[in-house]
Amino acid sequence: MVLPILTDPHPLLRQKAKPVKKITKRLKKLAQNMLETMYAADGVGLAGPQVGVDERIIVIDVGDGPLVLINPEIVSATGEARDVEGCLSVPGRNGYVTRAAKVKVAAVDLEGRRVEFAGEGLLARAFQHEIDHLDGVLFIDRLTPEAGGAEK
Ligand code: NI
Repeated sequence: MVLPILTDPHPLLRQKAKPVKKITKRLKKLAQNMLETMYAADGVGLAGPQVGVDERIIVIDVGDGPLVLINPEIVSATGEARDVEGCLSVPGRNGYVTRAAKVKVAAVDLEGRRVEFAGEGLLARAFQHEIDHLDGVLFIDRLTPEAGGAEK
């Protein structure tokens, strides 16, 4: 089921989302719906708060298949990369954001197992962008005012 996507300045996008305590049938259905919503919107990532869910869950697909991460945390971040970002919750805007070039992320999967992912390039960017959503942070807060201007 495709869910409505909240857009800035909806207050839920600015809240710190709560940790998921238990993997339930409802959560599995939510993950499925979030993936369907992301694909329908041509996005590469989506976080719970964007569909009105105050819980720490994100979905990502940068072209290598779907990932569902529950309670994700960045455990290491190295390097720096600057690239253009947009967000389904901030339609019509994009701009340059500097982020870590490589990250390792620990999370729990839908079976309740501890998982770890290493990402670089677009995947590293997606992890950081989506985890930001769980902390109420949008990419427009991180625009880098460097040569070329913040807005693309
Ligand atoms: Ni976003």
